[in-house]
Formats: sequence, structure tokens, C-alpha cells
Amino acid sequence: MTATGPSANGRPLRVATIGGDGIGPEVVRAALPALVAAAEGHGASVEITELDWGGDRLLRTGHAMPADGPEELRRHDAVLLGAVGHPALSPSESVWTLVLPIRKALDLFVNLRPIRAWPGVRSPIRGAPRADFVVVRENTEGEYAGIGGRVHEGSPDEVATDVAIHSRRAITRVARYAFELARSRGQTLTLVTKSNVSRHGYALWDEVVFALREAEFPDVAIEKAYVDAMAARLIERPDSLGVLVCSNLFGDILSDAGAPIAGGLGMAPSANISPDRTGPGMFEPVHGSAPDIAGRGVANPIACVLSGVLLLRDVGLGAAADTLEQAVSLALASGECHTPDLGGRATTDRAAAAVHAAVGQVLRAGAAAP
Ligand code: NAD
Ligand code: IPM
Ligand code: MN
Repeated sequence: MTATGPSANGRPLRVATIGGDGIGPEVVRAALPALVAAAEGHGASVEITELDWGGDRLLRTGHAMPADGPEELRRHDAVLLGAVGHPALSPSESVWTLVLPIRKALDLFVNLRPIRAWPGVRSPIRGAPRADFVVVRENTEGEYAGIGGRVHEGSPDEVATDVAIHSRRAITRVARYAFELARSRGQTLTLVTKSNVSRHGYALWDEVVFALREAEFPDVAIEKAYVDAMAARLIERPDSLGVLVCSNLFGDILSDAGAPIAGGLGMAPSANISPDRTGPGMFEPVHGSAPDIAGRGVANPIACVLSGVLLLRDVGLGAAADTLEQAVSLALASGECHTPDLGGRATTDRAAAAVHAAVGQVLRAGAAAP
């Protein structure tokens, strides 16, 4: 998509937005103006298709998205998603009717979750100020395979299974991406598994990743960690991490665990991408629909703005991505965009407006530079 996609002089960047549930629509709506301003400031125009997919639509029509939803998304360069999780639905219904089907249908097999510290944001984690690492999460299988069932329901003999799938193909493709990322960042690749207990699935991860290193990435430093020890290391020494590669569930948990390094869940972005370009990337905050604060206008929009940074970079608008990221940094350093989760009093809209204004500032500084 980078070769044929939107550019400063080419066709508009086509972005589909799915607000989803809870604070999802609040943060997407707030994040968009800064994203658009950054793109336009670098000569790209942006065409937005707002999609009303999610829990309300499901309750109204019986479907969270239309049957041809993934096809609709393919007509775009990228998707910006807020969050799913509707209070009137079971949590699994919310996720299995929208976000997981989209990740699978578009085969977005890499879930990229960068975590770094920000100026002006306090973290409870020691070592946070120097942390800058990326979780590369396998995004199509593991515990998310959707295979399982129940028998003897409601009786004392009831049994339930969720079968985790780990295929050589899926491990290889996500690991190859992670090795390339570690090589380009000049960092160590840390493979996180639980192969001491899971003698089959996670043993396959270890075998495949180490064989791939020998065959294709002998220059990339690698280490192996167990996920339980990694949970402690994230808190004790997050600055010792570079690129982590792990299964779907471990990546889900470790990325939430790492979020407080950046200031909390309201600060953690993610990219669901297919390096093979089987579909447009879907960019979304790591956080969920936050029902406890939904509708109050206090959600932190920065995770969504930073997901926009990942989006711009993915579609080849690297300069716009840099501008938006610098704007976030400036607004955070000034404290103007600190919502209550960061210890401030800014509303969602106020925080987003501060980032938007900072985009203008960064663009003007760039224009004035020799
Ligand atoms: P959550 O991430 O929604 O909320 C956890 C805590 O973090 C809450 O106290 C919340 O107020 C806070 N928080 C989250 N985002 C914030 C923000 N932007 N600003 C300030 N505070 C923020 O996780 P949960 O409560 O476990 O899940 C709620 C629902 O969201 C569930 O239905 C779950 O399945 C769903 N969920 C969806 C996604 C997604 O769409 N990608 C991700 C995680 C959870
Ligand atoms: C996330 C969320 C999702 C996940 C849910 C909503 C399916 O927690 O994006 O981290 O587990 O992948
Ligand atoms: Mn999660």
C-alpha cells in the first residue's frame, strides 16, 4: 500500500472510522482533527467514512457490522477503531461480532503495541522514563482461535474447553516481522513463552523462532523469557526491553501490564497490520470501552491519537506521523492535555484540542526551519 497508496500529491487517504462502544466513539471523534491536520499539513487530504458499527447497531439490527463489513473496510487505506464492549451485551458477544472477526477476516496477523515514556507524564514504574519497547503480538490464533465448547451444561459434570492453536505458519510470519523490527531498531528480540509447562504449543514457538534466527537473522540478538518472569521484569526493569514477540493472549496481557509505563491505559496505542497487505491496517487504543467513565467526557484520547500516529506511518505518511507524535509530546509536556487518569483536569475534548493546536505549532516550526 505504501507504493500505491495516498501521498502528498496523490489521491486522498481513505480512513474508515468505527467508534464502537463506550468511550470508543468519544476518543475517535476527539482524535480525528489532529490526525487530519497532521496529514493535511504534509499535503495529503483525508477522506473519512464513519461507520456506526458496534453494540448499538447489534441491538438495533441484530448485527454489529454488515455481512460484507470486511469488504467495506478493504475499500479504505486504514481503519481507526475506538473500542468494543457494550453494557447491554455479554462481553464475548461484543468482541466476537466486531473486533475479532475483523482482525481475522483481514488476516491482520501482527498486533504492534509500542510502549514508551512521555515528558510530563508520571509513571509509578521505576525505570519508566528510559523505557521504549514494542510488544509484537501474534493476532490470529492462540487462545483466540475460537475453538471450544461445553458439555453437560449447568450440571456438576459440566466441562468447558477453549483450545489454543499455535501453528508453525503463524509463529513464523509474526516472528519474521519481529526480527526485522528488532534489526531496524537495533534492539534485542525477546521471545516470551511458557514452554516449561506448555510442552506442545509454546515448545513449537521456541523451536520455530530459534530456527528462524539461525536461518535468517543471525545478526539479531535474541533471548528467551517465560511470561511469568516477564510480568515482573516489565515492572522492575522495563528499560531493559527492546522488541518482545509473543502469542496472542500473552501479548494482550503484557501490553496492558506495560501501559502504566506510558502513563496508563489511556496512553497505549496499537496497530493491527498485515505486512503482506492482505487488508488495510486497523488501528485502535489498547484499552477497552471503559464503561466506568463512558459518557462523562473525561476519557484520555491520547491512546487513540497515538494509534493515528501508527496509522499515518503505516500508509506511508511518515512525516505526518512524526508531526502528530511531536504534537502529542509537546501537549503532554505542557500538561495541557492531562485528563484525570494522568492526574489532570482536562476533558477529552480539551486534551484533543491541545494536541490539535500543537500540530499547528509543529507544522509552523517545520515551515520556519531552513
Ligand atoms: P478497559 O480498558 O475498558 O478499562 C480498564 C480501566 O482503564 C478502567 O478503569 C477505565 O476507566 C480505564 N481506562 C481505559 N481507557 C481509558 C482512557 N482512554 N482514559 C482514561 N481511563 C481509561 O478494560 P475493561 O474494563 O476490562 O473492559 C471493558 C470492556 O471493554 C469489556 O467489554 C472488554 O471486553 C472491552 N475491551 C475492548 C477492547 C477493544 O475494543 N480493543 C480492549 C479491551 C477491553
Ligand atoms: C485488546 C482487547 C481485545 C483482545 C478484546 C476486546 C478482543 O483486549 O485489543 O487488547 O483481547 O485482543
Ligand atoms: Mn486487551
